Parts: sequence; structure tokens; C-alpha cells
Amino acid sequence: MNSGGSAQIQPSSYSDPVCGQNNIIVVHTSAGTYAALSSSCTHACCVVSFNGTALHCPCHGATFDVTTGKCTNGRASQSLQVLQTCADANGVYVTP
Ligand code: FES
Repeated sequence: MNSGGSAQIQPSSYSDPVCGQNNIIVVHTSAGTYAALSSSCTHACCVVSFNGTALHCPCHGATFDVTTGKCTNGRASQSLQVLQTCADANGVYVTP
């Protein structure tokens, strides 16, 4: 994944605290730095995607900060859950 890229994963061991879904987005925010968050929008549980600067919900337009998960615009009143990441030469590890 290049810097600015993102990937959606759905580990069976994860359930986010708002929607109870296992959607996670991993974003390569800068060289060697990754962010991982629940990708289920806290408004009505649509799946958000990374638009290059923020996480964007396609359903009603909420946006979320990719580092803090905080809603920066739109209808969502709660933040996306932020997950721990660890990267090494073999890959990126996300701790739900
Ligand atoms: S479901 Fe995301 S803004 Fe409504």
C-alpha cells in the first residue's frame, strides 16, 4: 500500500462499539505511518472510505479525521473507533 492508500478489512474478531460490525479501514497516512479505524459510520453504519485527506461517508456525507476518528462534518455525533497499528518489514498489524 502506497502512502495515501487505504484498505478495508473485516476480521471476524472485531465488532465496533456503535454498529456492531467488523469493518476496519487501514490508511497509509505517511511513510511508515498507518492509521486503522472502524469504517462503519457512527450515524447509520454505512461504510466510510478514504478520500485522500479524510474518511468520507457516502450515505449522508459525514467526514471523519483519519487520525483521531472525530467527526469533522455532517450528521455523525460519535467518533469512529481508532485501533492500534504496528508496522514492520512484513506488514501492518492492527489490534482490535
Ligand atoms: S450513515 Fe454516514 S453520514 Fe449517515
